[in-house]
Parts: sequence; structure tokens; C-alpha cells
Amino acid sequence: MSDKPLRAGIIGLGIGAAHAKGYAGNHGAELVALCDLDEQRLRDLSRQYNVPDKGCYSDYRKMLAEAKLDIVSVCLPNSMHAEAAIAALEAGTHVLCEKPMAPSVSQARQMVDAATKANKQIMIAYNYRYRADVQWIHRMIKSGQLGQIYHVHAMWRRETGIPGSGWFGRKEMAGGGALIDLGVHVLDLTMWLLNFPMVKTVSGDTHMVFGQRGLKTWGHRPGQPIETVFDVDDGAVGFVRFGDSSNLVLEATWAEHRQPQDDMIHIELQGTEGTAVLNIANYRKDDTLRMYKEMEGEPVTVIPTIRWDGPMGHEALIIDTLACLRNGLPMPTDGAQGLMAVHVLEAMYRSSHEGREIELNQGIDVLG
Ligand SMILES: NC(=O)c1ccc[n+]([C@@H]2O[C@H](COP(=O)([O-])OP(=O)(O)OC[C@H]3O[C@@H](n4cnc5c(N)ncnc54)[C@H](O)[C@@H]3O)[C@@H](O)[C@H]2O)c1
Repeated sequence: MSDKPLRAGIIGLGIGAAHAKGYAGNHGAELVALCDLDEQRLRDLSRQYNVPDKGCYSDYRKMLAEAKLDIVSVCLPNSMHAEAAIAALEAGTHVLCEKPMAPSVSQARQMVDAATKANKQIMIAYNYRYRADVQWIHRMIKSGQLGQIYHVHAMWRRETGIPGSGWFGRKEMAGGGALIDLGVHVLDLTMWLLNFPMVKTVSGDTHMVFGQRGLKTWGHRPGQPIETVFDVDDGAVGFVRFGDSSNLVLEATWAEHRQPQDDMIHIELQGTEGTAVLNIANYRKDDTLRMYKEMEGEPVTVIPTIRWDGPMGHEALIIDTLACLRNGLPMPTDGAQGLMAVHVLEAMYRSSHEGREIELNQGIDVLG
């Protein structure tokens, strides 16, 4: 690939703003096109990043036809990911798609197939892999500090966190609720940290306790009428057996009765030589890590001091993605990984619906 900056575009300018920051701050890219139906968002972001009027679109198909993009971020509501990503791939553009890749395995599979056919890359925006504390745990696992991991407890739980934006609560648009929205992040972190073991069986149980009553929704006051449909889970638990004999207990809630305003990501990896614990309370960066080991017969607690001096989250993800594209390296968050997560989530929903464990027997090697 030439040294010319890659021409980047973004479809959907909510979290798309984080993608814009990533492209705009990167020497390897030039942010040349933005698309949204919301004129205000389009205007604000184009001004912030000096995207000229001719690069501003309300129709992404027109943008894909005209803007000569090398890469496009798809940041639309979940149900729209597949159509937009496939259109972009068919237009000869690499795609960085927001999570979850798609609400169904069949759509995610079509996206992977479209990328293969077009000989382009499809990648998923798993930005949490790029936190400094998560990267440290990854290094600890790779260097053998935890030994063989046999159990993971991964959760993202909120006291009040049902998204106020209507589509998140509508199955037709979102595909699912807390499980597909928050659960996908901690599921991906687990799968990535375990280096994508084969998934043998999946169980899940979802519930809908608060959303339909208009409770614990961002921006909603008690007693206000509920204006939007809410027909997705606002909480879920899952259990996964992996082929390497390890297992995962997963929990995801948008809402529950717990410490007011609490928002907690917790990942605990238990290994034969140590346990690593990540606790991200309300998106904080300080004091998020513990590692428990034994030295000379005594238990030891390791409290690492992590440096947070580089780019993180979407910004770091975009730097990594562009570097891999440029150098022809394997994509860090490729479509097969996205598809694998959708397989597990779909099986959790199915398990919940049918009231039984689902045999998946899927490995990432057969998905790419
Ligand atoms: N990785 C993360 O941490 C993270 C965080 C938030 C959201 N997300 C994901 O990003 C995606 C978008 O979520 P969001 O919070 O930004 O939602 P949002 O509703 O805030 O933004 C979506 C945008 O898409 C625009 N849009 C809808 N239909 C369109 C169309 N046909 N053409 C052009 N624009 C259109 C809307 O006007 C809106 O501005 C979802 O898949 C969500 O799961 C990821």
C-alpha cells in the first residue's frame, strides 16, 4: 500500500464522533466524508474536523459512490450494520463496524462473506481491548503469569443505564438489550484474553424488569409517560463452556437495584498460577487492577501502577487498524471474531427462550 493517507469516512455520528477523533488525529488517515440523517450532528462534526461541505452526506450510498474512500466506519443502529457494511465492501471500501457486529448470525455471516468476496477487511470496534489496564492483563496472560485459565467471571452492570435513545430498547432496531449492548464488550474481552477457545455450549437467561415501566432510563424522570417501545432485555446472565475446559459466567445489566449511579465493568480471570481482576467503576482509570498469586507459600497481592500516557479506546483501535491495513498484517478485531461473538450471543438468547443449554461447538478457525 502507498504512503498516501487512507481516505476515511463515517456513517452515523453518535459514537461516530469517537471514530472521527481517531481518524483526524492519525497521520495515516484523512477524514474526508461524514454521513448522518441528523443535520445538526453532521454540521457540528464537519466543522470540528474541517470536513468540507462536499464531504457531508445524508445518503451513505451516495457517499460510498462519490467519496473514493479506503475505509469507512459504520456507526449506525445495530440492525443497519449489515446493509451499510455490505454496501461499503461492495464499493471496495474496508469497514470498521461498531459492535455488536449484527443482531443475528445470518447477517454477520453475510458481512464476512461480502468482505471475502470483495477482498476487503471487515473489523469490529472493540475499543475496550485498547485500555491500558486491559492491555496489561493481556500481557500477563501471554507471559504465563496466570498459568492455565480455568474460569472467567465477566460482567458489566449498571444501576441506571437504559439508553434514552429510543432505538436501543427496540428489538427490531437493536436485536437485543443489555446482553447484546454491554455483554458483547465483556464477552469479546474474555474471548480475546483467552485467545478464542472453541465454544462448546452456551446457556443464557434474560429478563425485562425496568425498561417497560420506564424506570432507570437515562434522561427519564419517574412519573413521565414512556414514549418509546421497550421490548428487549434489561439484564441477562450467561454461561459458556469452552473447549479447553475453561468456562465463563457473564452478566450484563442496564438497570438493577444497586449502589446509585454505579456502573461497573468487572472481569476476573482465575488461572492455575494467579488470578487477575479488573474493576472499572464508572469508566475510571485509577486503581482498576489486582493480581493475586502465591510466592514462597504465601498469598501475594500485586497492585500495578499503569501508565495511561498513550492513545486509548477508539483512537488506539484506529491507529492499530490503519497500521495493520497499511502493512498487510492480520486485522486485530477481524470479522471472524465479530461473528463468533454474535454466535454466542444468539445462542444465549435462544437458550433463554427455549430454557435449555445450546450446543454450539464453534471455533473461530472455521468462521473466517
Ligand atoms: N464501542 C462503543 O463503546 C460504543 C458506544 C456507543 C455505541 N456503540 C455502537 O454504535 C452504534 C451506534 O450507536 P450510537 O450510540 O452512536 O447511536 P445514535 O443513535 O446516537 O447514533 C446513530 C446515528 O445514526 C444516524 N442514522 C440513522 N439512520 C441513518 C441512515 N440511514 N443514514 C445515515 N445516518 C443514519 C442517526 O441519525 C444517528 O445520529 C451501535 O451499534 C452501538 O451499539 C458502540
